[in-house]
Amino acid sequence: MAAIVLIGAQWGDEGKGKITDFLAQKAEVVVRYQGGNNAGHTVVANGEEFKLHLIPSGILYENKTCIIGNGVVVDPKVLLQELDYLNSRGVKTGKLLISTNAQVIMPYHRLLDALEEDARGANKIGTTKRGIGPAYMDKSARIGIRIIDLLDKDVFEAKLRRNLQEKNTLLTKIYGVQPLEFEEIYTEYLGYAERIKHLVTDSSLAIDSSIRNGEKVLFEGAQGTLLDLDHGTYPYVTSSHPIAGGACIGAGVGPTKITRVVGVVKAYTTRVGEGPFPTELLDETGEKIRQIGHEFGTTTGRARRCGWFDAVIARYAVRVSGISDFAVTKLDVLTGLDKIKICVGYRVGGEVIYEFPQSQKIFTDCIPVYEEMPGWQEDLTGVRKFEDLPVEAQNYVKRIEQLTETSATIVAVGPGREQTIVRGEIF
Ligand code: IMP
Repeated sequence: MAAIVLIGAQWGDEGKGKITDFLAQKAEVVVRYQGGNNAGHTVVANGEEFKLHLIPSGILYENKTCIIGNGVVVDPKVLLQELDYLNSRGVKTGKLLISTNAQVIMPYHRLLDALEEDARGANKIGTTKRGIGPAYMDKSARIGIRIIDLLDKDVFEAKLRRNLQEKNTLLTKIYGVQPLEFEEIYTEYLGYAERIKHLVTDSSLAIDSSIRNGEKVLFEGAQGTLLDLDHGTYPYVTSSHPIAGGACIGAGVGPTKITRVVGVVKAYTTRVGEGPFPTELLDETGEKIRQIGHEFGTTTGRARRCGWFDAVIARYAVRVSGISDFAVTKLDVLTGLDKIKICVGYRVGGEVIYEFPQSQKIFTDCIPVYEEMPGWQEDLTGVRKFEDLPVEAQNYVKRIEQLTETSATIVAVGPGREQTIVRGEIF
Protein backbone atom coordinates (compact mmCIF):
# COMPACT_ATOMS: atom_id res chain seq x y z
CA MET A 1 0.00 0.00 0.00
CA ALA A 2 1.25 3.47 -0.80
CA ALA A 3 -0.75 6.66 -0.64
CA ILE A 4 1.19 9.83 -1.25
CA VAL A 5 -0.06 13.34 -0.79
CA LEU A 6 1.66 15.89 -2.99
CA ILE A 7 1.26 19.51 -1.93
CA GLY A 8 2.51 22.97 -2.76
CA ALA A 9 4.79 24.20 0.02
CA GLN A 10 4.76 27.89 -0.94
CA TRP A 11 2.06 30.11 -2.48
CA GLY A 12 1.07 27.78 -5.31
CA ASP A 13 2.53 27.46 -8.81
CA GLU A 14 5.44 25.41 -7.48
CA GLY A 15 5.40 23.08 -10.46
CA LYS A 16 3.11 20.49 -8.88
CA GLY A 17 1.71 19.50 -12.28
CA LYS A 18 5.09 18.33 -13.46
CA ILE A 19 5.87 16.41 -10.26
CA THR A 20 2.38 14.86 -10.18
CA ASP A 21 2.84 13.79 -13.77
CA PHE A 22 6.22 12.31 -12.89
CA LEU A 23 5.00 10.41 -9.81
CA ALA A 24 1.81 9.39 -11.60
CA GLN A 25 3.93 7.09 -13.78
CA LYS A 26 3.98 4.67 -10.85
CA ALA A 27 0.51 5.33 -9.46
CA GLU A 28 -2.68 3.56 -10.37
CA VAL A 29 -4.94 6.33 -9.08
CA VAL A 30 -4.55 10.14 -9.02
CA VAL A 31 -6.95 12.22 -6.92
CA ARG A 32 -7.63 15.97 -6.71
CA TYR A 33 -8.96 16.85 -3.26
CA GLN A 34 -9.52 20.63 -3.06
CA GLY A 35 -9.78 23.85 -5.01
CA GLY A 36 -11.24 24.07 -8.46
CA ASN A 37 -10.37 25.68 -11.75
CA ASN A 38 -8.49 28.45 -9.92
CA ALA A 39 -5.58 26.02 -10.24
CA GLY A 40 -3.46 25.80 -13.33
CA HIS A 41 -1.15 22.90 -13.93
CA THR A 42 1.19 22.93 -16.89
CA VAL A 43 2.50 19.51 -17.82
CA VAL A 44 4.87 18.65 -20.63
CA ALA A 45 4.40 15.04 -21.71
CA ASN A 46 6.35 13.57 -24.63
CA GLY A 47 7.33 17.06 -25.73
CA GLU A 48 3.74 18.33 -25.80
CA GLU A 49 2.47 20.95 -23.39
CA PHE A 50 -0.89 20.53 -21.65
CA LYS A 51 -2.61 23.06 -19.42
CA LEU A 52 -5.03 21.59 -16.91
CA HIS A 53 -7.19 23.35 -14.34
CA LEU A 54 -9.54 20.80 -12.88
CA ILE A 55 -8.77 17.32 -14.11
CA PRO A 56 -5.91 15.54 -12.27
CA SER A 57 -2.62 15.63 -14.16
CA GLY A 58 -2.57 11.81 -14.15
CA ILE A 59 -5.09 11.90 -17.00
CA LEU A 60 -2.22 12.18 -19.47
CA TYR A 61 -1.52 8.48 -18.84
CA GLU A 62 -4.09 6.29 -20.52
CA ASN A 63 -4.40 3.64 -17.83
CA LYS A 64 -4.70 5.72 -14.63
CA THR A 65 -7.90 6.25 -12.74
CA CYS A 66 -8.31 9.98 -12.08
CA ILE A 67 -10.66 11.16 -9.40
CA ILE A 68 -12.12 14.57 -8.62
CA GLY A 69 -12.80 14.27 -4.90
CA ASN A 70 -15.58 15.64 -2.73
CA GLY A 71 -13.43 18.55 -1.55
CA VAL A 72 -13.20 20.03 -5.04
CA VAL A 73 -15.56 22.72 -6.34
CA VAL A 74 -16.48 21.75 -9.90
CA ASP A 75 -17.47 24.16 -12.62
CA PRO A 76 -19.12 21.66 -15.00
CA LYS A 77 -18.74 23.96 -17.97
CA VAL A 78 -14.99 24.11 -17.42
CA LEU A 79 -14.82 20.38 -16.74
CA LEU A 80 -16.48 19.62 -20.08
CA GLN A 81 -14.30 22.13 -21.92
CA GLU A 82 -11.24 20.46 -20.41
CA LEU A 83 -12.47 17.01 -21.39
CA ASP A 84 -13.12 18.20 -24.95
CA TYR A 85 -9.68 19.83 -25.06
CA LEU A 86 -7.97 16.64 -23.91
CA ASN A 87 -9.98 14.46 -26.29
CA SER A 88 -9.22 16.79 -29.20
CA ARG A 89 -5.53 16.33 -28.44
CA GLY A 90 -5.82 12.57 -28.43
CA VAL A 91 -5.89 12.04 -24.65
CA LYS A 92 -8.32 9.33 -23.52
CA THR A 93 -10.40 10.43 -20.55
CA GLY A 94 -12.46 7.30 -19.95
CA LYS A 95 -11.04 6.65 -16.47
CA LEU A 96 -12.15 9.91 -14.89
CA LEU A 97 -14.46 9.75 -11.86
CA ILE A 98 -16.19 12.59 -10.03
CA SER A 99 -17.37 12.50 -6.45
CA THR A 100 -21.12 12.62 -5.87
CA ASN A 101 -20.41 15.08 -3.07
CA ALA A 102 -18.23 17.61 -4.87
CA GLN A 103 -19.79 21.08 -4.88
CA VAL A 104 -20.92 22.69 -8.12
CA ILE A 105 -19.81 26.16 -9.16
CA MET A 106 -22.87 28.04 -10.40
CA PRO A 107 -23.03 31.20 -12.57
CA TYR A 108 -23.89 33.30 -9.50
CA HIS A 109 -20.67 32.15 -7.82
CA ARG A 110 -18.58 33.49 -10.68
CA LEU A 111 -20.57 36.70 -10.78
CA LEU A 112 -20.37 37.26 -7.03
CA ASP A 113 -16.63 36.49 -6.96
CA ALA A 114 -16.06 39.37 -9.37
CA LEU A 115 -18.52 41.75 -7.69
CA GLU A 116 -17.24 41.04 -4.18
CA GLU A 117 -13.65 41.47 -5.32
CA ASP A 118 -14.41 44.83 -6.94
CA ALA A 119 -16.27 45.95 -3.83
CA ARG A 120 -13.19 45.26 -1.69
CA GLY A 121 -11.37 48.09 -3.45
CA ALA A 122 -7.93 48.56 -1.90
CA ASN A 123 -8.47 45.45 0.25
CA LYS A 124 -8.88 43.14 -2.72
CA ILE A 125 -7.55 39.59 -2.41
CA GLY A 126 -6.66 39.16 -6.06
CA THR A 127 -8.92 36.13 -6.54
CA THR A 128 -9.02 34.29 -9.84
CA LYS A 129 -12.72 35.27 -10.19
CA ARG A 130 -13.66 31.70 -10.99
CA GLY A 131 -16.33 31.55 -8.27
CA ILE A 132 -14.22 29.47 -5.92
CA GLY A 133 -14.71 31.49 -2.71
CA PRO A 134 -18.49 31.95 -3.14
CA ALA A 135 -18.92 28.21 -3.89
CA TYR A 136 -17.09 27.24 -0.69
CA MET A 137 -19.12 29.85 1.20
CA ASP A 138 -22.31 28.12 0.11
CA LYS A 139 -20.86 24.76 1.07
CA SER A 140 -20.21 26.03 4.61
CA ALA A 141 -23.59 27.74 4.69
CA ARG A 142 -25.09 24.33 3.80
CA ILE A 143 -26.93 25.62 0.77
CA GLY A 144 -24.43 24.43 -1.85
CA ILE A 145 -25.47 22.27 -4.79
CA ARG A 146 -23.57 19.01 -5.00
CA ILE A 147 -22.90 16.96 -8.12
CA ILE A 148 -25.41 14.36 -6.93
CA ASP A 149 -28.11 17.08 -6.76
CA LEU A 150 -27.62 17.80 -10.45
CA LEU A 151 -28.58 14.21 -11.22
CA ASP A 152 -32.03 14.57 -9.70
CA LYS A 153 -34.14 17.13 -11.57
CA ASP A 154 -36.50 17.79 -8.67
CA VAL A 155 -33.80 18.19 -6.05
CA PHE A 156 -31.84 20.42 -8.38
CA GLU A 157 -34.86 22.56 -9.16
CA ALA A 158 -35.68 23.08 -5.47
CA LYS A 159 -32.10 23.92 -4.55
CA LEU A 160 -31.57 26.22 -7.49
CA ARG A 161 -34.81 28.11 -6.82
CA ARG A 162 -33.90 28.58 -3.17
CA ASN A 163 -30.40 29.76 -4.06
CA LEU A 164 -31.52 32.11 -6.79
CA GLN A 165 -33.99 33.76 -4.46
CA GLU A 166 -31.16 34.65 -2.11
CA LYS A 167 -28.53 35.43 -4.75
CA ASN A 168 -30.86 37.62 -6.79
CA THR A 169 -31.64 39.68 -3.70
CA LEU A 170 -27.90 40.13 -3.22
CA LEU A 171 -27.30 40.91 -6.90
CA THR A 172 -30.09 43.46 -7.22
CA LYS A 173 -30.21 45.05 -3.76
CA ILE A 174 -26.54 45.08 -2.79
CA TYR A 175 -24.70 45.14 -6.10
CA GLY A 176 -27.37 46.80 -8.27
CA VAL A 177 -27.02 44.35 -11.17
CA GLN A 178 -29.57 42.32 -13.13
CA PRO A 179 -31.02 39.18 -11.51
CA LEU A 180 -30.27 35.74 -12.99
CA GLU A 181 -32.94 33.68 -14.73
CA PHE A 182 -33.92 30.28 -13.34
CA GLU A 183 -34.84 28.59 -16.63
CA GLU A 184 -31.62 29.41 -18.39
CA ILE A 185 -29.39 28.04 -15.62
CA TYR A 186 -31.64 25.04 -14.98
CA THR A 187 -31.54 23.94 -18.61
CA GLU A 188 -27.84 24.65 -19.00
CA TYR A 189 -26.87 22.63 -15.90
CA LEU A 190 -29.17 19.70 -16.68
CA GLY A 191 -27.34 19.52 -20.00
CA TYR A 192 -24.02 19.28 -18.14
CA ALA A 193 -25.47 16.64 -15.82
CA GLU A 194 -26.44 14.53 -18.79
CA ARG A 195 -22.87 14.61 -20.08
CA ILE A 196 -21.13 13.80 -16.78
CA LYS A 197 -23.55 11.46 -15.02
CA HIS A 198 -21.69 8.30 -16.08
CA LEU A 199 -18.55 9.62 -14.32
CA VAL A 200 -20.18 10.27 -10.96
CA THR A 201 -19.39 7.89 -8.10
CA ASP A 202 -18.75 7.47 -4.37
CA SER A 203 -15.10 8.42 -4.73
CA SER A 204 -14.13 7.74 -1.11
CA LEU A 205 -15.24 4.14 -1.61
CA ALA A 206 -13.36 3.89 -4.90
CA ILE A 207 -10.16 5.19 -3.28
CA ASP A 208 -10.55 2.84 -0.32
CA SER A 209 -10.91 -0.20 -2.51
CA SER A 210 -7.84 0.83 -4.52
CA ILE A 211 -5.80 1.14 -1.33
CA ARG A 212 -7.10 -2.21 -0.07
CA ASN A 213 -6.11 -3.78 -3.38
CA GLY A 214 -2.55 -2.58 -2.89
CA GLU A 215 -2.76 0.05 -5.62
CA LYS A 216 -0.68 3.20 -5.40
CA VAL A 217 -2.71 6.35 -4.90
CA LEU A 218 -1.43 9.87 -5.45
CA PHE A 219 -3.35 12.79 -3.94
CA GLU A 220 -2.64 15.91 -5.95
CA GLY A 221 -2.93 19.18 -4.06
CA ALA A 222 -3.68 22.47 -5.76
CA GLN A 223 -2.54 25.96 -4.68
CA GLY A 224 -0.09 25.91 -1.76
CA THR A 225 0.44 25.95 2.00
CA LEU A 226 0.49 29.73 2.35
CA LEU A 227 -2.86 29.90 0.52
CA ASP A 228 -4.51 27.50 3.00
CA LEU A 229 -7.67 28.92 4.53
CA ASP A 230 -6.51 28.17 8.09
CA HIS A 231 -2.74 28.07 7.81
CA GLY A 232 -1.98 30.57 5.07
CA THR A 233 -1.58 34.32 4.92
CA TYR A 234 -5.22 34.98 5.82
CA PRO A 235 -7.19 36.77 4.37
CA TYR A 236 -4.99 36.56 1.26
CA VAL A 237 -5.73 32.89 0.82
CA THR A 238 -7.95 30.59 -1.14
CA SER A 239 -11.08 29.08 0.42
CA SER A 240 -9.94 25.47 0.71
CA HIS A 241 -7.22 23.41 2.38
CA PRO A 242 -4.20 22.81 0.17
CA ILE A 243 -2.18 21.35 3.09
CA ALA A 244 -1.78 17.57 3.39
CA GLY A 245 -4.60 17.24 5.93
CA GLY A 246 -6.94 18.58 3.25
CA ALA A 247 -6.53 15.30 1.38
CA CYS A 248 -8.20 13.35 4.18
CA ILE A 249 -11.26 15.58 4.17
CA GLY A 250 -11.36 16.31 0.46
CA ALA A 251 -11.03 12.68 -0.61
CA GLY A 252 -12.59 10.83 2.31
CA VAL A 253 -9.48 8.92 3.31
CA GLY A 254 -8.18 8.38 6.85
CA PRO A 255 -4.82 9.88 7.91
CA THR A 256 -3.37 6.48 8.83
CA LYS A 257 -3.58 5.51 5.16
CA ILE A 258 -1.19 8.26 4.03
CA THR A 259 2.32 6.88 3.70
CA ARG A 260 4.27 9.94 2.54
CA VAL A 261 3.88 13.66 1.95
CA VAL A 262 5.80 15.29 -0.88
CA GLY A 263 6.13 19.07 -0.66
CA VAL A 264 6.83 20.82 -3.93
CA VAL A 265 8.95 23.96 -3.64
CA LYS A 266 10.32 26.14 -6.36
CA ALA A 267 14.04 26.91 -6.05
CA TYR A 268 12.86 30.49 -5.51
CA THR A 269 9.48 31.86 -4.46
CA THR A 270 6.51 33.27 -6.39
CA ARG A 271 3.09 34.55 -5.50
CA VAL A 272 0.12 35.81 -7.51
CA GLY A 273 -2.54 38.07 -6.11
CA GLU A 274 -2.26 40.35 -3.13
CA GLY A 275 -0.75 39.80 0.30
CA PRO A 276 2.57 39.87 2.15
CA PHE A 277 5.65 38.33 0.54
CA PRO A 278 8.84 39.15 2.50
CA THR A 279 11.42 37.92 -0.02
CA GLU A 280 9.77 39.59 -3.02
CA LEU A 281 12.26 41.10 -5.49
CA LEU A 282 11.04 44.30 -7.07
CA ASP A 283 14.26 44.77 -8.99
CA GLU A 284 16.02 43.46 -12.10
CA THR A 285 16.72 40.08 -10.51
CA GLY A 286 12.99 39.59 -9.88
CA GLU A 287 12.28 40.51 -13.49
CA LYS A 288 14.99 38.17 -14.73
CA ILE A 289 13.56 35.26 -12.76
CA ARG A 290 10.04 36.09 -14.05
CA GLN A 291 11.17 36.08 -17.67
CA ILE A 292 13.44 33.02 -17.51
CA GLY A 293 10.99 31.08 -15.34
CA HIS A 294 7.96 32.14 -17.45
CA GLU A 295 6.29 33.28 -14.28
CA PHE A 296 2.91 34.21 -15.65
CA GLY A 297 -0.28 32.56 -14.35
CA THR A 298 -1.62 29.50 -16.18
CA THR A 299 -5.16 30.43 -15.18
CA THR A 300 -5.26 34.22 -15.33
CA GLY A 301 -2.08 35.12 -17.24
CA ARG A 302 -1.11 37.52 -14.44
CA ALA A 303 2.59 38.24 -13.92
CA ARG A 304 3.70 36.38 -10.80
CA ARG A 305 5.59 38.23 -8.10
CA CYS A 306 9.06 36.67 -7.75
CA GLY A 307 11.53 36.49 -4.87
CA TRP A 308 14.28 34.50 -3.14
CA PHE A 309 13.73 31.10 -1.54
CA ASP A 310 12.23 31.49 1.91
CA ALA A 311 13.38 28.70 4.24
CA VAL A 312 11.14 29.96 7.05
CA ILE A 313 7.97 29.26 5.10
CA ALA A 314 9.37 26.01 3.71
CA ARG A 315 10.01 24.84 7.30
CA TYR A 316 6.53 25.96 8.26
CA ALA A 317 5.11 23.90 5.38
CA VAL A 318 7.06 20.88 6.65
CA ARG A 319 5.46 21.39 10.06
CA VAL A 320 1.81 21.85 9.04
CA SER A 321 1.80 19.09 6.44
CA GLY A 322 4.35 16.65 7.84
CA ILE A 323 6.32 16.82 4.60
CA SER A 324 8.62 13.80 4.30
CA ASP A 325 10.30 14.76 1.01
CA PHE A 326 10.76 17.89 -1.01
CA ALA A 327 10.60 18.12 -4.77
CA VAL A 328 12.64 21.22 -5.65
CA THR A 329 11.56 22.54 -9.03
CA LYS A 330 12.95 25.03 -11.55
CA LEU A 331 16.52 24.90 -10.26
CA ASP A 332 17.62 25.57 -13.86
CA VAL A 333 15.96 29.02 -13.77
CA LEU A 334 18.58 30.27 -11.30
CA THR A 335 21.45 29.67 -13.73
CA GLY A 336 23.36 32.83 -14.52
CA LEU A 337 23.00 34.62 -11.19
CA ASP A 338 26.28 35.61 -9.47
CA LYS A 339 24.84 35.30 -5.99
CA ILE A 340 21.76 33.53 -4.72
CA LYS A 341 20.08 34.41 -1.46
CA ILE A 342 18.12 32.23 0.94
CA CYS A 343 15.95 33.76 3.63
CA VAL A 344 16.74 32.06 6.94
CA GLY A 345 14.80 34.28 9.36
CA TYR A 346 12.94 37.56 9.63
CA ARG A 347 13.90 40.77 11.35
CA VAL A 348 10.94 42.23 13.19
CA GLY A 349 11.69 45.43 15.05
CA GLY A 350 14.91 44.75 16.95
CA GLU A 351 14.41 40.98 16.99
CA VAL A 352 15.13 38.10 14.59
CA ILE A 353 12.49 35.37 14.42
CA TYR A 354 12.84 31.95 12.81
CA GLU A 355 9.22 30.79 12.72
CA PHE A 356 6.35 31.90 10.52
CA PRO A 357 4.52 34.49 12.67
CA GLN A 358 0.84 34.02 13.47
CA SER A 359 0.08 37.72 13.13
CA GLN A 360 -0.30 38.80 9.52
CA LYS A 361 0.47 42.35 10.60
CA ILE A 362 3.86 41.15 11.84
CA PHE A 363 4.39 39.03 8.73
CA THR A 364 3.76 42.08 6.55
CA ASP A 365 6.50 43.95 8.43
CA CYS A 366 9.05 41.10 8.34
CA ILE A 367 12.39 41.96 6.78
CA PRO A 368 14.20 38.89 5.50
CA VAL A 369 17.54 37.86 6.96
CA TYR A 370 19.52 36.38 4.09
CA GLU A 371 22.36 33.97 3.65
CA GLU A 372 24.20 34.49 0.39
CA MET A 373 25.54 31.63 -1.70
CA PRO A 374 27.58 31.63 -4.89
CA GLY A 375 25.56 31.04 -8.06
CA TRP A 376 26.48 28.97 -11.12
CA GLN A 377 26.63 29.70 -14.85
CA GLU A 378 26.14 26.23 -16.33
CA ASP A 379 22.92 25.14 -18.07
CA LEU A 380 21.30 22.48 -15.88
CA THR A 381 18.55 21.34 -18.20
CA GLY A 382 20.45 18.31 -19.49
CA VAL A 383 21.64 17.09 -16.06
CA ARG A 384 20.10 13.82 -14.86
CA LYS A 385 22.24 12.98 -11.81
CA PHE A 386 22.64 15.10 -8.70
CA GLU A 387 26.44 14.62 -8.71
CA ASP A 388 26.56 16.09 -12.23
CA LEU A 389 25.11 19.41 -11.12
CA PRO A 390 27.63 22.24 -10.64
CA VAL A 391 28.87 22.06 -7.06
CA GLU A 392 27.27 25.45 -6.29
CA ALA A 393 23.85 24.12 -7.35
CA GLN A 394 24.39 20.98 -5.26
CA ASN A 395 25.34 23.12 -2.26
CA TYR A 396 22.28 25.30 -2.74
CA VAL A 397 19.96 22.29 -2.63
CA LYS A 398 21.85 20.83 0.33
CA ARG A 399 21.49 24.10 2.22
CA ILE A 400 17.73 24.02 1.64
CA GLU A 401 17.73 20.49 3.04
CA GLN A 402 19.70 21.55 6.13
CA LEU A 403 17.52 24.55 6.83
CA THR A 404 14.29 22.59 6.47
CA GLU A 405 15.59 19.27 7.87
CA THR A 406 13.92 17.59 4.91
CA SER A 407 15.47 15.71 2.05
CA ALA A 408 15.12 17.08 -1.47
CA THR A 409 14.39 13.69 -2.97
CA ILE A 410 13.41 15.10 -6.36
CA VAL A 411 15.09 18.00 -8.16
CA ALA A 412 13.62 19.30 -11.41
CA VAL A 413 15.79 21.01 -14.02
CA GLY A 414 13.21 21.65 -16.73
CA PRO A 415 9.55 21.15 -17.59
CA GLY A 416 9.90 17.78 -19.36
CA ARG A 417 9.21 14.45 -17.64
CA GLU A 418 12.80 13.36 -18.21
CA GLN A 419 14.26 16.57 -16.76
CA THR A 420 13.96 15.17 -13.28
CA ILE A 421 16.72 14.13 -10.89
CA VAL A 422 15.58 11.44 -8.47
CA ARG A 423 17.68 10.85 -5.38
CA GLY A 424 15.59 8.17 -3.67
CA GLU A 425 12.46 6.08 -3.96
CA ILE A 426 9.15 7.82 -3.31
CA PHE A 427 6.66 5.17 -4.38
P1 IMP B 1 -9.29 32.21 -5.32
O1 IMP B 1 -8.76 30.85 -5.03
O2 IMP B 1 -9.64 32.43 -6.76
O3 IMP B 1 -10.38 32.62 -4.38
O4 IMP B 1 -8.09 33.28 -5.04
C1 IMP B 1 -7.59 33.50 -3.74
C2 IMP B 1 -6.07 33.69 -3.77
O5 IMP B 1 -5.44 32.47 -4.12
C3 IMP B 1 -5.58 34.72 -4.80
O6 IMP B 1 -4.44 35.38 -4.28
C4 IMP B 1 -5.17 33.86 -5.98
O7 IMP B 1 -4.23 34.49 -6.79
C5 IMP B 1 -4.60 32.66 -5.25
N1 IMP B 1 -4.65 31.43 -6.04
C6 IMP B 1 -5.72 30.66 -6.30
N2 IMP B 1 -5.38 29.60 -7.05
C7 IMP B 1 -4.06 29.69 -7.24
C8 IMP B 1 -3.09 28.85 -7.91
O8 IMP B 1 -3.39 27.78 -8.46
N3 IMP B 1 -1.81 29.29 -7.88
C9 IMP B 1 -1.45 30.42 -7.24
N4 IMP B 1 -2.29 31.22 -6.60
C10 IMP B 1 -3.59 30.86 -6.60
